[in-house]
Amino acid sequence: MELQNKTIIVVGASSGMGLATAARLHAAGAHIVMVGRTEDKLAEAAKTIESSTERISLVAADMTTDEGRQRIKAASDHVDHLVVTAADLSYMPIKDFTVEAAEKVVQSKLLAPLFLAQALLPVLAENASVTFVSGIAAERPIAGGALTGAVNGGLNALVRGMAIELAPIRVNTVSPGWVETPIWEQVMPDKAKREELFNAMRAKIPSRRLGKPQDIAQAIHLVITNGFISGSTMYVDGGQRLV
Ligand SMILES: NC(=O)c1ccc[n+]([C@@H]2O[C@H](COP(=O)([O-])OP(=O)(O)OC[C@H]3O[C@@H](n4cnc5c(N)ncnc54)[C@H](OP(=O)(O)O)[C@@H]3O)[C@@H](O)[C@H]2O)c1
Repeated sequence: MELQNKTIIVVGASSGMGLATAARLHAAGAHIVMVGRTEDKLAEAAKTIESSTERISLVAADMTTDEGRQRIKAASDHVDHLVVTAADLSYMPIKDFTVEAAEKVVQSKLLAPLFLAQALLPVLAENASVTFVSGIAAERPIAGGALTGAVNGGLNALVRGMAIELAPIRVNTVSPGWVETPIWEQVMPDKAKREELFNAMRAKIPSRRLGKPQDIAQAIHLVITNGFISGSTMYVDGGQRLV
């Protein structure tokens, strides 16, 4: 129970890596503020966490808006750790990208985490940590994912500057490889094609398997509890960036 009496905000907690992280940190004793845009999804997700009636608050809010960020801030007047896994990205060929679609990607993955951390500064503990989730697209982009790669790389760079400026608050990214979560239903809706792609990746990468949300939750747990990790990117990708 090393995180007993700690308050941790997890944005993206209703699905995938965010949900696995919320469950893991809750099991370690923390009070978890679970954030996502959709109230029902949050309530269903919370039910999957053991003894979820204790030490869990649900906040339906969109982190890309000022109003949403203020709602997240209002959930607690003292925050020990902020974790952001949330993103809503558009994958499309460069020739089809519109300014509107591109701005949405930049807002969702780069600016919203930055401005959420800014909004929470008055309530973050002096020894708090801030952890964002970036991703393999920064190193190994797929066609249609050029801008996703750019915002992931931008996030890895952003935390280095934030760690210097916000010290002693520690700011880091965890960068996943391909992890089996619901996000893939949007990225590649055709199930058969998705499985084909997954099998090709399993055969290629050193781990010979794709990631599980729990792999990422374990890494986030380490990053937030190790007081000597700051301005770092932890790669949790089965070696995918090497091949
Ligand atoms: N899965 C992979 O293979 C992979 C690989 C590399 C990097 N990543 C990155 O890892 C992170 C987590 O991905 P995942 O696969 O766990 O995604 P996921 O299963 O789709 O979950 C995304 C979560 O974020 C919430 N969310 C999205 N936009 C939000 C907003 N504006 N404000 C508040 N909540 C929001 C969603 O709930 P609502 O829709 O209800 O808001 C949901 O809870 C993402 O940043 C993704 O880019 C994923």
